[in-house]
Amino acid sequence: MADTLNQNTNIVVSNKKRSSGSDECDHHDDSFFVSKKQSKSLVWEDPAAALANARHEFGEHGGVNMSIEASATFTVMEPETMRRMFAGELGPDRDFFIYSRHFNPTVLNLGRLMAALEGTEAAYCTASGMSAISSVMLQLCSSGGHVVASQTLYGGTHALLTHFLPRACNITTSFVDVRDLEMVKEAIVEGRTNVLYFESVSNPTLTVANIPELSRIAHEKGVTVVVDNTFAPMVLSPVRLGADVVVHSISKYISGAADIIAGAVCGPASLVNSMMDLHQGSLMLLGPTMNPKVAFELAERLPHLGLRMKEHCKRALEYASRMTKLGLKVIYPGLENHPDYALIKSMANKDYGYGGILCVDMETEERANRLMNVLQNFTQFGFMAVSLGYYETLMSCSGSSTSSELNNEEKELAGISPGLVRMSIGYNGSLEQKWSQLDKALSKMQDKMPF
Ligand SMILES: Cc1ncc(COP(=O)(O)O)c(C=O)c1O
Repeated sequence: MADTLNQNTNIVVSNKKRSSGSDECDHHDDSFFVSKKQSKSLVWEDPAAALANARHEFGEHGGVNMSIEASATFTVMEPETMRRMFAGELGPDRDFFIYSRHFNPTVLNLGRLMAALEGTEAAYCTASGMSAISSVMLQLCSSGGHVVASQTLYGGTHALLTHFLPRACNITTSFVDVRDLEMVKEAIVEGRTNVLYFESVSNPTLTVANIPELSRIAHEKGVTVVVDNTFAPMVLSPVRLGADVVVHSISKYISGAADIIAGAVCGPASLVNSMMDLHQGSLMLLGPTMNPKVAFELAERLPHLGLRMKEHCKRALEYASRMTKLGLKVIYPGLENHPDYALIKSMANKDYGYGGILCVDMETEERANRLMNVLQNFTQFGFMAVSLGYYETLMSCSGSSTSSELNNEEKELAGISPGLVRMSIGYNGSLEQKWSQLDKALSKMQDKMPF
């Protein structure tokens, strides 16, 4: 839809047709993405404020919600327009769309919100987090390219870098401990390394990356910094801290309902546009397209992401503190005893907290499984399921599930103990109601009663 509230579809159509004519030069729509001009002039305070400042799309008939452009293809008034669209002379910045594997207006609107959330110039959404990650890597690296990556990554990303990209594309990765800045420096081969890749808060070990320092090191050697911010939307804003690109699995917190698989790439407009290039673009040519109906649904959830994150984080901190007092081995970056506590405090956006995930190390897989069994089947604290960001608590034993792609040596390097239980803390029910269920399960574990 055009950038004004229109009550009549025909007005939009005629606007569009006029813009392909001779007056095209003074018809530029700055809001294609968060424009360069805008992102520089706005003082970026916080992700919620940035989201509120983003352009609000009205529906075609004046609805408070945007319309869904549920079209695979788009019509033109004159045959010449088609040629000009394919030549790149007319594009979505002027409300010209070709085909929905390329830019789609509704997906682009969600992209604008994601760009506002992450404080980037542009963003575009994809069919999954993995497609966002793989498409970015394939855009930034060519055959023979090199990546330096954290050794603690989501298992799927680890497998992509370890197995798939070397075999299919001759792109290799050196894994490093990103807490060791000297090791990162040494692993970067100037002129050959294309990307430094890490997670802002790592899955599942919850180590926190020093985003400003890592970005500085990478930039000194001309390397692009790509950060997976899936674990910490709103809490951390990697591009505002110096990184170049943020990727998300929207399937997690941003969706919040465990019903959609989706992803996003947030970064410079030049990168997003290059990913849509008709000849060389990874999104255009591999085609991990988001359905506009899904984009609409997700756009309706972004306004309450901040509220949800605050509650996830508040409860995770509270349970982590109480479990620590009970003598459990808890890993949570918001606890003062966490090695990265000062770091996350220095980088976090104000008032969101330190993340909604905590881990408890039960030492053996058998004890981890026993705890999860009690928590789900006896005290109803949460569900045994992978994923995160749901309103119910989700629990999984990482070593045998979401990190099972790593071999034993890689797990040890990543710091994943066989008994590590990852808990994505939900906000359903009251904090005390859920604590009593957790507490009851922990007492049962101490009783060593058979379950
Ligand atoms: C940190 C992280 N990044 C990326 C992904 C992949 O996202 P998706 O499942 O949406 O493809 C996941 C999935 O678990 C993840 O935890």
